[in-house]
Amino acid sequence: MTGTTLDDYTDRYAQRMRGMTASEIRALFAVTARPEVVSLAGGAPFVAALPLDAVGEMMAKLGGEQGATTLQYSGGQGDLALRERICEVMALSGIDASTGASPDDVVVTVGGQQALDLVSRVFLDPGDVVLAEGPSYVGALGVFQAAQADVVHVPIDDDGLIPAALAEALETVARAGKRAKFLYTVPNYHNPGGVTLSSERRDEILAIAERARLLVIEDDPYGLLGFSGEPMPALRARHRDGVLYVSTFSKTFAPGLRVGWVLAPHAVREKLVIASEAQILCPSMFAQTAIATYFATMPWKEQVKTFRQIYQERRDALLSALTEQMPAGTRWTRPDGGFYVWLTLPDGLHSKEMLPRAIAARVAYVPGTGFYADGTGGSHLRLSYCFPTPERIREGVRRLAGVIEKETLVRAEFGTAAAPAPSRVTWTHATHLGPAAGQAPAPGLE
Ligand SMILES: Cc1ncc(COP(=O)(O)O)c(C=O)c1O
Repeated sequence: MTGTTLDDYTDRYAQRMRGMTASEIRALFAVTARPEVVSLAGGAPFVAALPLDAVGEMMAKLGGEQGATTLQYSGGQGDLALRERICEVMALSGIDASTGASPDDVVVTVGGQQALDLVSRVFLDPGDVVLAEGPSYVGALGVFQAAQADVVHVPIDDDGLIPAALAEALETVARAGKRAKFLYTVPNYHNPGGVTLSSERRDEILAIAERARLLVIEDDPYGLLGFSGEPMPALRARHRDGVLYVSTFSKTFAPGLRVGWVLAPHAVREKLVIASEAQILCPSMFAQTAIATYFATMPWKEQVKTFRQIYQERRDALLSALTEQMPAGTRWTRPDGGFYVWLTLPDGLHSKEMLPRAIAARVAYVPGTGFYADGTGGSHLRLSYCFPTPERIREGVRRLAGVIEKETLVRAEFGTAAAPAPSRVTWTHATHLGPAAGQAPAPGLE
């Protein structure tokens, strides 16, 4: 009965739990909630900018007058009124009736995260290959790990996913006698990269995918949060068949309601609904009605503009502080929207090793290792500017610059093993990951 470890259930867990461990940095993140620590780690949207009193009044009515419906079960695909609103939102990214989008092919989910999980349940068997940007959203990597898929990372640069590298990755996979089940990509204001896939590359990526009959999962939580101009047409707007579009209300309204969606070709939509019903029966009717009502009755586009202004001001504060304070040899991306900057450390420094020193200096970030399925990425880190005020951001950068400077001096004096350089295409057998990979996302990693 009793096992040899502290966990008596060790021999009973499913295979998929192998390698899925709580993040080692979870404990460190616990201290980032302390007021003296400037956290540039979390990806929490600045919901305090919402008209909270008005939203509260709206919600009270949903629980009272409309309670008999909103507090009841609903259909597995999601409420039609909300699916119609979702189509209006997607139309802003060029996904509309002319490109075959209809409320009938939308599945409402519990945030974008459940959408990614459903897609994985529907398409992935253990050992299947998923292509994903290197770095990639940590929550997606967790989902692929749970599905026991192998992640092959494809590098990005300032213009997003590199088409030649995608072609190379497809060849690598084919040479191994395998076929990638899909490409997972975040084309707009990438998490954690901060970069956006250029318009030319969108067409190139789609052409490569079409030639290889590669399904594309386009994850787009930040598309409406650009700082200059209109949103670029989504991959799904350019290609109706080979792309599944995933998005969420978490960043344009509120993550606390946990509502997202998938737009999928009809046949796939059926499968997603079956998978979702098996998992959750139906999404919360209360949350769905709250969102449908908010988008029908409140000035949501004005609110998104307000969010954009706040985030742009914070982005500016972060970029100018980095320019002023960071030691030579440090590089970073310049996002034109979204929440994140991806920073590359001077040679030889390792972001995960440095984190305890940063926290001691009262500043927190997310080490780059969290965004690679194979635990590489130690020469990078992610900074978020969505939540702290500009003053706090400047103070955080001042502290971080001090830590990097000190770290560089120590390395120069005593030397150290350099962080392993991520190769151009890295193939990770997610089912055989070491302790760094497959960790559950720590709070604030989203
Ligand atoms: C790229 C990406 N996809 C999906 C999600 C999940 O969002 P949600 O809160 O809707 O589950 C996030 C959250 O940060 C994200 O950054």
